[in-house]
Amino acid sequence: MELVFSVIDLPFPDDVAELTRRHLQFCRDLSPEEHVHALDDGFTDPAVTVFAARQAGQLVGIGALKHLDDDHAEIKSMHAAAVRRGQGVGMAMVVHLMAFARDRRYGRVCLETGTMEGFAPARELDRNVGFRPCPPFAGYTANPDSTCMTVKLPVLAGGRGAVRRRTRPAVAWPMVSSDRAAHWDAAYRDRRSDGVSWYQPSPATSIELIHALGLSRETAIVDVGGGASRLVDVLLDEGFSDVSVLDVSGVAMAEVRRRVGPTAATLIRADLLAWTPPRRYGLWHDRAVLHFLVDPAARNRYVEVVHLALKPGGYVVIGVFAPDGPERCSGLPVVRYSADSLSELLGPDFEVVAHRRDEHVTPAGVIQPFTWLTARLGMPP
Ligand SMILES: C[S@@+](CC[C@H](N)C(=O)[O-])C[C@H]1O[C@@H](n2cnc3c(N)ncnc32)[C@H](O)[C@@H]1O
Repeated sequence: MELVFSVIDLPFPDDVAELTRRHLQFCRDLSPEEHVHALDDGFTDPAVTVFAARQAGQLVGIGALKHLDDDHAEIKSMHAAAVRRGQGVGMAMVVHLMAFARDRRYGRVCLETGTMEGFAPARELDRNVGFRPCPPFAGYTANPDSTCMTVKLPVLAGGRGAVRRRTRPAVAWPMVSSDRAAHWDAAYRDRRSDGVSWYQPSPATSIELIHALGLSRETAIVDVGGGASRLVDVLLDEGFSDVSVLDVSGVAMAEVRRRVGPTAATLIRADLLAWTPPRRYGLWHDRAVLHFLVDPAARNRYVEVVHLALKPGGYVVIGVFAPDGPERCSGLPVVRYSADSLSELLGPDFEVVAHRRDEHVTPAGVIQPFTWLTARLGMPP
């Protein structure tokens, strides 16, 4: 069952609003009024991030995470659509919420639930993922109708607090920004992948910089904004066994799938600003994507996603337009970088391993200077 999770902002779409109403009614039917703690007005609280789980576009569940303090978040409003009960939706949602909390560097997640028979499946699910009874927290009281549970989360690279802890993103990035996807789809469709200005028959600089790292062939590699680049083909040919390509353009992803086949690489169609990496990678490669992020909030989000995606000791290889590079590309404005400004953007958790200047020649013969930087995410103390 492939579920797609997304952050939902107010005003809720009709199906989400309806399921939140059902959840509230479900809690009211089972618990005395004074112990109904399901969110109602609470959804407007900026400390609450609401998620929807969809399958083939159909809403199958909701859940929320509430920021309590820097170390502590609370799971709220978990509810699977009635027709999907007993099919793993609740488990998938709680695992997603825990992963989100872990990525946000919370140390523990708690929840409050009812003691009535109707809540027994929820209590069992929570126990199965590691929740254990705990004293009341955040204003809950000890009483026969409710029980509180908690689970500790593992410490990630960079330690607690390395990433902004506020649960609701400062900017609510849609899962796939339709404008962004439409722009890039049109570029690949109109000019074909070998006619776009960034086309290169062979990703020579990327390969050279990756070789210099001496990575094992099992290293998990993600090429973000990989588009229709041949990097994935070369890495697979060289025996790298765990290569992912992420891009917002479905047209580009379809072309890569046609070239490398359906299973050789993991293809992720997503807006990287909205992406919660499902796992950790040893190498993050980006050629010519970061420089399109002209909004500071988007750049901060990019760095946040890099932190979430990389294993401790993992590498980034990033190529962006140099200070004397083009001011626009594909009709969009860009930010140009020196090695210093790129390293400053990544922040002190990254140690610069190498940097270089490189000149890309477009299919029309125009020279585009690039800054390339290789950096390593520090190991936790
Ligand atoms: C200039 S192209 C570079 C493509 C590829 N890295 C290469 O070297 O051929 C920029 C790519 O980034 C993708 N892209 C732009 N913004 C993105 C975003 N926010 N999330 C994911 N992909 C994005 C575009 O679809 C496009 O494929």
